[in-house]
Amino acid sequence: MYVDADARLSAALTAASSDRIVFDLTGIEGQYERLLSELPDVDVRFAMKACPVDEVLTCLADRGAGFDAASPTEIEQALRTGVPVARIHYGNTVKSDANIAEAHRLGVRTFATDSVQDVAAIAAHAPGSRVFCRLATSGDGALWGLSRKFGCSRDDAVRVLDAARAAGLTPAGLSVHVGSQQMTCEAWRQAFDLLADTLVALHEQGIAVDHINLGGGLPALGYLDRHGTRLDPPLDKMFAVIRDGMEQLRAVNGAPLDFVMEPGRHLVADHGAIRAHVYRLTSRQKSDGERVHWLYLSSGKFNGLYEMDQLSYRLVFPRHVDGPQVSAVVAGPTCDSDDAYGSGHHPVPVPEAVTSGDPVWILAAGAYATSYMTQGFNGFPPLPYTCVRDTSSLAGTDTTLAGTETTRGN
Ligand SMILES: Cc1ncc(COP(=O)(O)O)c(C=O)c1O
Repeated sequence: MYVDADARLSAALTAASSDRIVFDLTGIEGQYERLLSELPDVDVRFAMKACPVDEVLTCLADRGAGFDAASPTEIEQALRTGVPVARIHYGNTVKSDANIAEAHRLGVRTFATDSVQDVAAIAAHAPGSRVFCRLATSGDGALWGLSRKFGCSRDDAVRVLDAARAAGLTPAGLSVHVGSQQMTCEAWRQAFDLLADTLVALHEQGIAVDHINLGGGLPALGYLDRHGTRLDPPLDKMFAVIRDGMEQLRAVNGAPLDFVMEPGRHLVADHGAIRAHVYRLTSRQKSDGERVHWLYLSSGKFNGLYEMDQLSYRLVFPRHVDGPQVSAVVAGPTCDSDDAYGSGHHPVPVPEAVTSGDPVWILAAGAYATSYMTQGFNGFPPLPYTCVRDTSSLAGTDTTLAGTETTRGN
C-alpha cells in the first residue's frame, strides 16, 4: 500500500536527527502525473531553477519531462539526467555571447528571447536555431510578478520574430510567464488574450509559429501568506481556464500549435520539507513599550527559506503538538534583519513550551530552497538534502522509505 505524501515526508522528518531538506520523489512524480492528466496536450519542461537536485531532475526526466534551463551550467546538469537535448531549451532571455555559444556547443537549439539585440547574438553564436519570444505580462495576482525584467510588447514581439527570420533563425514560438505563485485565473485569461492578439499580428507579417510556451506560475497549495493565512489558489479553475485558452489559441492560429509549459514550484514545493531546530523563543520589550515574542530557528532566509519575504510556512513542532501557544515572529539564525517571516512584522502562533534544540518541520519548502541557499552566510552552511521514495512493491503491503543524504556541491 502506498503511503500518502505527507506521511512519507513525516516519516523521513521524524527519522532525521539533524537539519536537512527532504524531497519526496514519489510525491513529485505523482504531482507530475497529475499535471499531465490536467493538461494532457502540454509538453512539460521543468524549470530547473526551482529545484536543481539531481535525483529530482532524474525522476522527472525518467517520466518524460524536459527542462527549462537558465544557463549553460543548468544545461549540463540537465544532460546528466540522460534527457535528450531536444527536450532542453534555454529559457532565459538574459544571456551573454559566451552563454549562447556554449549552449549551442552542448546541443541546445531552442532559445528564449525578447529583444532584437539578443536575436542578433543568437544568430551569430547559435546559427539556425529556433527562438521563441517572451511577451511581458503585468505579474498582477502573483506573489512574485516577473514583469519588469523580462518580455516585450505584442508589437515588439513581431519585430523580434521578424528580425529572427531575417537572421536565418526559425521564429518558432511565443512565451509568457504570469508570475510565480499566481493566485488568479484572470492573469491566465489576460495572458491568453495577449497571445491570441500577438498570433494575429504575426500572421499579418506572414509569420506562423509552431508552439506556445505557457511558462511557469502554477501555484503550490501548502503555503501561508505573510500573516499566516493559508493561500488557497483556485487550481482546478486555473486548469480549466488554461485548457480553454489553448483551444482559443488553436482556433486563432488555424494551423497546428504545440504547447510547452515550464512549471517550477508547482511540481516540487509541496513535496519538500525542512527539518530544522529551535534556537530560542524569546520575549523582548521594544523601545515603544510593546513586548514581542521572537522564535529563532536554525533555518531562515539564507539557508532554505529565501522566499520568506512573501510567505510564511506551516511549522510542525513534533514534541509540542498540544498546549498553549504564543504569537511570535519567526526568524532565521543570521544577523540580517531581513531573515524573518514577513521581514519581522507578522507574528504567527507557536507553542509556548518550545526549547532550544527542539526539532521543527517547515512544510511546503521544496521550491527555490536549495537553489537560493547561500554558501554559508554568517557561517551557517547550506542544508544537506535527503531524497526519499516509496519503495513498496505493487503487490505488497509493506512500505519502506529509502533515502540517502547528500550535500550539494557548487
Ligand atoms: C522563464 C521561467 N520559466 C519558469 C519559471 C518557473 O516559475 P514557477 O516556479 O512559478 O513555476 C521561472 C521562474 O522564475 C522562469 O523565470
